[in-house]
Amino acid sequence: MSKTFTWLVTGSNRGIGFEFVKQLVASSANVVVATCRQPESATALKDLVGSAAGKLHIVALDVSDAASIKASAAAANEVLSEHGLDYLISNAGIMQAMDGPFDATEEALLTHFKANVAGPALVAQAYLPYLEKGERKVIVNVSSGLGSIGLAFGAKQASYSISKTALNMLTYKQAADRPDIISIVVDPGWVKTDMGGPNAQVEPQDSVSGQLKVITSVTKEDSGKYYRYDGENLPW
Ligand SMILES: NC(=O)c1ccc[n+]([C@@H]2O[C@H](COP(=O)([O-])OP(=O)(O)OC[C@H]3O[C@@H](n4cnc5c(N)ncnc54)[C@H](OP(=O)(O)O)[C@@H]3O)[C@@H](O)[C@H]2O)c1
Repeated sequence: MSKTFTWLVTGSNRGIGFEFVKQLVASSANVVVATCRQPESATALKDLVGSAAGKLHIVALDVSDAASIKASAAAANEVLSEHGLDYLISNAGIMQAMDGPFDATEEALLTHFKANVAGPALVAQAYLPYLEKGERKVIVNVSSGLGSIGLAFGAKQASYSISKTALNMLTYKQAADRPDIISIVVDPGWVKTDMGGPNAQVEPQDSVSGQLKVITSVTKEDSGKYYRYDGENLPW
């Protein structure tokens, strides 16, 4: 019998998260827990369930709500209790302000931190017991090139960029704390989604197929690294 891998994707009802689920369920080797804030209105995801032959499970998860994160881990137990979790993809994220460092509001700074940093941190904590039981034990924090200081993108999108830099540090801390788990950062590129907009340079399918190549091939030696979707190492 061929090997089965279990995956959990946050923010999977649209954009890059949805593309992850679409590509993953195309392989019979994958069992996917697709999470989103409002499963009842996740029509594209629900349409996939029929063709996924029992391999796709939709679970409610709002990454800005600690109670929702805990409840999702309990709900996912049915799928993950036996095999554990091989891959946790913390993809959900927000970019709600085109602000700069001198006009970013307290609300914008904290809202971005909650969704883009505290969310992935608490999701990893809630799913840690499943990761410990999984075979691959990979945490993927979907960040952004804007989170890199070394890439020097300038002053724009301050609240968002600062939150992604903090997400990068979270990943470093996860890797340092748990050498038995592979924690990496991935920059999906500038992708044509609601967030990336129509002028973006990368199609969702190309970003995700590239990210999946990286994610499925990383080893413990790669933990704590920062990758672009095409496999290139990025400067912090
Ligand atoms: N597109 C790009 O060019 C680009 C570039 C660099 C990095 N990224 C990163 O890639 C990831 C995906 O981006 P995308 O382009 O697919 O964005 P998107 O099209 O705006 O989709 C964002 C996804 O995140 C979900 N989400 C937002 N807040 C959430 C919350 N509190 N709880 C659960 N889900 C939540 C959204 O769900 P709802 O439908 O419920 O809002 C949606 O599914 C993000 O982390 C983003 O920062 C994107």
